[in-house]
Amino acid sequence: MAKFILIAVFMVVLIANFTSSEVAASSGVVVGSSNPKEEGNKLAMVQEEEDMDGGFSSLDGMLQWAIGHSDPGVLKERSEVTQRMSPEELNKRQTELKELMEKLKMPSDAQLMLIAVNDLNNSSLPLEYHLRALEELLVLVEHIDNAIDLQKLGGFTVLIRILNHSEPEIRTATAWVLGKASQNNPIVQKQVLELGALTMLMKMMKSHTTEEAVKALFAISALIRSNVNGQSLFYQEAGDMMLQEVLSNSNLDIRLHKKSLFLIADLAESQLENENTAEVSFFSNRLLLKAIVDSMASSDLDLTEKALYAIKNILLLRSTEVQLFKDFCKLNEVLERTRQQLNDHREEYAMDVESLRKEVNLTFLQKLNKVKETLI
Ligand SMILES: *[C@@H]1O[C@H](CO)[C@@H](O)[C@H](O)[C@H]1NC(C)=O
Ligand SMILES: *[C@@H]1O[C@H](CO)[C@@H](O)[C@H](O)[C@H]1NC(C)=O
Ligand SMILES: *[C@@H]1O[C@H](CO)[C@@H](O)[C@H](O)[C@H]1NC(C)=O
Ligand SMILES: *[C@@H]1O[C@H](CO)[C@@H](O)[C@H](O)[C@H]1NC(C)=O
Repeated sequence: MAKFILIAVFMVVLIANFTSSEVAASSGVVVGSSNPKEEGNKLAMVQEEEDMDGGFSSLDGMLQWAIGHSDPGVLKERSEVTQRMSPEELNKRQTELKELMEKLKMPSDAQLMLIAVNDLNNSSLPLEYHLRALEELLVLVEHIDNAIDLQKLGGFTVLIRILNHSEPEIRTATAWVLGKASQNNPIVQKQVLELGALTMLMKMMKSHTTEEAVKALFAISALIRSNVNGQSLFYQEAGDMMLQEVLSNSNLDIRLHKKSLFLIADLAESQLENENTAEVSFFSNRLLLKAIVDSMASSDLDLTEKALYAIKNILLLRSTEVQLFKDFCKLNEVLERTRQQLNDHREEYAMDVESLRKEVNLTFLQKLNKVKETLI
């Protein structure tokens, strides 16, 4: 507790002196990092993710979280004192505090995670505490070592329990943390899968709030990416129908469409690498294939590109029935329509997408010819 008071006071002092961007750029003093040099990067990455997915401002969140763990009376008194100080006094005080903190040592990431997990595990605490704890974990699990430590602390059992929370906001943030922790981390993927998260996340895709569905899909992708067991489970749980429903619903947020296409391209690529193993009916679901083809003719170039990638990878699979693409999905016509649409775009990016479109057309024609040859 004493450490938290100190951290919080120190942060108040810092923030009194610098703009928050300078704090973010200059210091390893912000809560939560055992490696000061990486703090700037970490925040930058959070920013990037926010741009993509929408979300909360982490520095502010961490500050409030730290303050939440300290004595409000003492804090207020201290911050009033600092406001009365001259700049010289303030500087001196900062140096003193910095030295003191170095002597006392910052709480380690593992300690911070333990506090966060305990807060999450205590259902009598108010919602805000749970949200803060999740925000803190979101930053901490970015480090692969922390994600593994979180597993050792029993953190994932608690996280998966609250993935069932009655508040959508909590479920959303929890899915985000689970996704972050699972990214490129087979150990975490394995545990989170074993705890049954995939089924729960797939149910969350039916949520009425866009953010919840977006974060759930983010977590699903992170959980099964390059993970053969996760992928089999996803196929067993009718992942093809889930993605088909998303792609066929034009009322849904475009981010969900993009993430779905990205996931499909990724799954097909994974299938290409292991094509001698089990054949997957996923890629012969005609409604899914049609939904993918139809999303190509979008006015959003990025979406068009993602659809083209997915189709290209699926066409490369030996087991793919190309006739289905021709007769049922009308790939020819949609490719032609997309060609005209791309013609109207002026950006250079449209030319890149057009060359990908041509490549898909060629792959398609070659595959059709091969089928004809074997028939003769
Ligand atoms: C849960 O939080 C409440 C309120 O802060 C506290 O009184 C209680 O001791 C906590 N329970 C556990 C098991 O930590
Ligand atoms: C969560 O709380 C329960 C009791 O309410 C306890 O048995 C369990 O060990 C706690 N889990 C963690 C990870 O702290
Ligand atoms: C989630 O809630 C449902 C219904 O309340 C319950 O049946 C299920 O066991 C819960 N799952 C977890 C992991 O807590
Ligand atoms: C596909 O490629 C063939 C052969 O180059 C060409 O004749 C045809 O017009 C192309 N179709 C589309 C839709 O781009």
